[in-house]
Amino acid sequence: MKIIVTKDKITGGAQAFKIFANEIQNGAKVLGLATGSSPIELYQELAHSDLNFSNLTSINLDEYVGLDPKNDQSYHYFMNEHLFKAKPFKHSYLPNGLASDTASEVARYDQIIKEHPIDLQLLGIGRNGHIAFNEPGTPFDSTTHEVKLTQSTIEANSRFFDSIDEVPKSAICMGIASIMSAKKIVLLAFGEKKRWAIKHMVEGPVTEEMPASILQKHPDVTIICDKAAVQDLD
Ligand code: F6R
Repeated sequence: MKIIVTKDKITGGAQAFKIFANEIQNGAKVLGLATGSSPIELYQELAHSDLNFSNLTSINLDEYVGLDPKNDQSYHYFMNEHLFKAKPFKHSYLPNGLASDTASEVARYDQIIKEHPIDLQLLGIGRNGHIAFNEPGTPFDSTTHEVKLTQSTIEANSRFFDSIDEVPKSAICMGIASIMSAKKIVLLAFGEKKRWAIKHMVEGPVTEEMPASILQKHPDVTIICDKAAVQDLD
């Protein structure tokens, strides 16, 4: 694992941008993308760059079940706002949260990943070491699957909705094996709330109880983080 420590989230985004630009210039055709606060600066850089995405494909990690793409809490909406409006891709795939048959949607998404092997996968990391919605205990050999959100996540998300009943109860998410199949991975983590996760991802045992620890086994992972996030590393 290569670790790049940057001054802050903004320089971290600029650093990630350099890697993305370099990979795209060197022929990367399929980008695996993430939502959340960590990639926002990278997306700003990409959105304002001269890079052309019209020949590229993007595949996102996850989407909530039951949310319309127009819902401002959906990951479709997030990606449109932060990147796709400014930089349309040839194809942009996200799980369809409105699919009537989740099992077929999961199979469809796996097929998309199979047909478009990911050249460069972007990740954030949860405080507990989750990657995408793969929470502690998710099998390392998992492919795309439906994840039931925990009651605490549902309650935490309820602040963004008019009522708790509107909060999604599950999500469709790329599995850990799918993430590991990417040729190159860049993980962004900023702030001291990520320090436990960074320490255990980098130095801890590789265990399904700490999903991101599997990245120790990937041949090409770059972690971009700030000093606050790495302060516990030996
Ligand atoms: C996003 C995702 C999540 C986030 C993680 C970190 O698509 O799958 O795993 O990457 O929860 O979120 P932030 O970046 O908001 O700290």
